[in-house]
Amino acid sequence: MTRRVTSRISGRPVPGVSTLTVPNPAHLDEVFSEVSLADAATFVEACRAAREAQPAWAAVPAPVRGRAVQQLGRLVEANLEALARLITREIGKPLVEARGEVQEVVDTCTFFASEGRRLYGMTVPSELPDKQLFTFRTPVGVAAIITAGNFPVAVPSWYLVPALLCGNTVVWKPAEYAPAIADAFAELILHAGFPAETFHVVLADGPTTSEGLERALEAGLVDKVGFTGSTEVGRRIGELCGRHLQSPCLELGGKNPLVVMPDADLDLAVEGCLFSGFGTAGQRCTSLGTVIVHEDVHDDFLARFAKAVAEASVGDPMQPVLYGPMMNARFCDRFVEEWLGLVRPHHRLLGSTGTGRITRANPREGFIGDPEAGLYVHPTIVDGVAMEDELYRTETFGPIVGVATFSTFDEAIQLANGHGYGLSASIYTRNPLHVFRFRERVSAGMVSVNNSTSGAEAHLPFGGNGKSGNGSRQSGVWVLEQFTRWQAMNWDYSGRLQKAQMDVADVSADLGFRLPEEP
Ligand code: UN1
Repeated sequence: MTRRVTSRISGRPVPGVSTLTVPNPAHLDEVFSEVSLADAATFVEACRAAREAQPAWAAVPAPVRGRAVQQLGRLVEANLEALARLITREIGKPLVEARGEVQEVVDTCTFFASEGRRLYGMTVPSELPDKQLFTFRTPVGVAAIITAGNFPVAVPSWYLVPALLCGNTVVWKPAEYAPAIADAFAELILHAGFPAETFHVVLADGPTTSEGLERALEAGLVDKVGFTGSTEVGRRIGELCGRHLQSPCLELGGKNPLVVMPDADLDLAVEGCLFSGFGTAGQRCTSLGTVIVHEDVHDDFLARFAKAVAEASVGDPMQPVLYGPMMNARFCDRFVEEWLGLVRPHHRLLGSTGTGRITRANPREGFIGDPEAGLYVHPTIVDGVAMEDELYRTETFGPIVGVATFSTFDEAIQLANGHGYGLSASIYTRNPLHVFRFRERVSAGMVSVNNSTSGAEAHLPFGGNGKSGNGSRQSGVWVLEQFTRWQAMNWDYSGRLQKAQMDVADVSADLGFRLPEEP
């Protein structure tokens, strides 16, 4: 059964102007969903509806808004299996990982349900008598949230849940290649108790979204943009928002390093590399880019890593596999045509019985299912990566992991930072000195110790530096800075005009005083 999906303004379906069909990436002959893509005017209309509804939503007490978040968490939990299966079938994420992703939404709701009872401001002492100072968190207004499809519900929930909790209204533009998942999540949100006018979904392609966003910003209908996606698009969104004196929340790409020190537990490091390098077919922004291995353990590590990758199960995402198909033809084509094209003659390839698409003519030993039914690619380890290589600097959104070698700690740090991304970085060592030196010197926003580069928990700050973002952080209390603004209030009940700095009482001191010198 093909699922038909349209945009929704205030819960009402809005037909689009063109149609996109989305196949199940594990069974390309099955049209899984069909989405009616909106035009730019629909995006603007959704922002206008959000603008109109925002004051009334902001007036709802925060603990009551938190109740809707709590109910959303319960609904998502009760529908966990159905939503996870939808994820597996629409973007090919293995079922066990899809379940984990839905759990991340539940965790996010659990955290923010109670935040409705906090959203703390402060009382601050004044320098003047009979006067009090206060700070309040106020909603930003209308949030336009644009997300990728690799985490089609977890990452959106990092924006949507706190944005709504804080009293903003939202226009969500999900990935158009994951429309049925987006629609299911929207249904759960609309059934959780949020008024329909607070939440709108627009399904559109990239250029249409850009145009709609530009028009909505110009019309003064958007106050905050949240974007998870490529560095290139993030840069354009940053420029656009800058023109309107706004700072967007940008979560962009990564080239995440994992350093293996000579004292590391190599088997543990291999396990971490397998999960973060190849889980979700390498299509996470936290996916491992380059393993940076000390020369003394390089050969031993590489032999174990290559063996683990060669033996890992790839195939049908409904089975317990390391990874399934690429999410969509656009990622599969780019992987084969662009990312694999960065391999040079001085590199050595390991990890599979071939490279590129897995087919009957280019088989993968131990493949589970029919490789030609879906968008499957071989896992690839590229040994001999150096800082001069394009592969070292380029985010490769697929199952490819580089291996570089170092001899001094300084070299490891240079390799970990030299590409200019700064999302997630990991070190495997038993030496606390290395851990703290690495933490201090690595440019990443998130650091793992004896753990892979993926798998952030839902209540720690998530985000990066350099080409990975503009310093914004999501999740936990840190994301509140994105969806609220501080308002300062002072209340003078002295009955007269007391001027700050000028009417402040003095305390006289004898600053020339010195203790007698001790013999
Ligand atoms: C992403 O790829 O955009 O930390 C997010 C992780 C996941 C989220 C990744 N929990 O790997």
